[in-house]
Amino acid sequence: MKLLVTGGAGFIGSNFIHYILSEHPNCEITNLDKLTYAGNLENLRDIENDPRYHFVIGDIADRELINNLLHGGYDTIVNFAAESHVDRSILDATPFIETNIKGTQTLLEGARQYRVGRFIQVSTDEVYGSIQNGKFTEKSPLSPNSPYAASKAAADLLCHAYWKTYQLPVIITRCSNNLGPFQFPEKLIPLAITKAWENKPIPIYGDGLNVRDWIYVADHCRALNLAIQRGKPGEIYNVAANQEKMNLELIHQLLDIMGKPRSLVSFVADRPGHDRRYALDAGKITQALGWKPFYSFEQALAATVDWYLNHEPWWRKIKSGEYAKYYDKMYSQR
Ligand code: NAD
Ligand code: DAU
Repeated sequence: MKLLVTGGAGFIGSNFIHYILSEHPNCEITNLDKLTYAGNLENLRDIENDPRYHFVIGDIADRELINNLLHGGYDTIVNFAAESHVDRSILDATPFIETNIKGTQTLLEGARQYRVGRFIQVSTDEVYGSIQNGKFTEKSPLSPNSPYAASKAAADLLCHAYWKTYQLPVIITRCSNNLGPFQFPEKLIPLAITKAWENKPIPIYGDGLNVRDWIYVADHCRALNLAIQRGKPGEIYNVAANQEKMNLELIHQLLDIMGKPRSLVSFVADRPGHDRRYALDAGKITQALGWKPFYSFEQALAATVDWYLNHEPWWRKIKSGEYAKYYDKMYSQR
């Protein structure tokens, strides 16, 4: 298996590369990553000298670079590369359009020209928008609410168009909120762990009653591997572990694990357009590909807390850099 993984220096991509190298002794992986603020080669330090792994710095929207790379012959592309943070998309949507839409189209076009055998688009439950009751299936209409979600929905539609028009064997996966090692500490769980560790207030948007459905990143990686091996071209697969939590409930659970007081919770202004609840029906991937999650939310949260507490230099380096400037800017505009 010869894979081109894009965005492999980010959270899920780096977990996925570790997973594939451990599962497939004969694989070959090229990781193409632009190394934006979210890309971190520290995430891949332990495998950087593995002869099956190669790193290329570059932009998925760079057509010449993509064509040069694909000329080398890949059987599969797994596209993780994206601007991924909703709050940043509210501050400035431009890079989301460039990478998530234009970048995906550039990759699709390269895949078409060089006849790549399989294209996995790593999408998100956010493309469906918010749901008060019940769960979204793959047939639910797209109704994205943030610029981030809209850019991911646009990419999904382009993927669909390349399948219908050119029969490019595209598979879209739409996963719920991931937690686990290597997640950039702007996202709720690593933000809360690192703040709590320093006994600093944890910002909770609005009333804290928004619901997210959480999945351990390793379970997402297993689902993606199955989609590569056995997924059907042209299909969409929802991926979720059916573990809904209100944000406040989650943070209380996290503080209890860490032995920190609940008084660290600090309610702040709500995220504009904040989706109230995400919930996915993942029955299709279970029935069609035999996938099911291995990790309970409690196991996943405990393992994630443990990882961050054992990797303090990793997150301290991030928090002391450019990230600090973004964080100040975001709160000054609320
Ligand atoms: P992340 O922000 O941690 O990582 C994104 C990676 O993409 C970084 O390494 C970054 O440098 C790279 N990148 C950004 N722009 C690029 C470009 N133009 N060219 C090449 N590389 C570029 O994101 P993540 O949380 O790991 O998410 C990965 C993918 O999974 C995204 O497509 C996201 O939409 C999707 N997703 C994430 C979640 C989640 O809970 N985090 C859930 C479902 C789907
Ligand atoms: O659902 C999948 C999506 O999950 C992915 O597509 C996105 O890439 C990923 O970033 C994530 O989006 P969310 O917006 O759900 O994740 P985030 O960690 O930013 O926020 C989770 C919830 O916590 C959300 O309701 C907003 C809230 N929140 C977030 C932050 C950063 C807070 O209350 N306080 C915070 O400081």
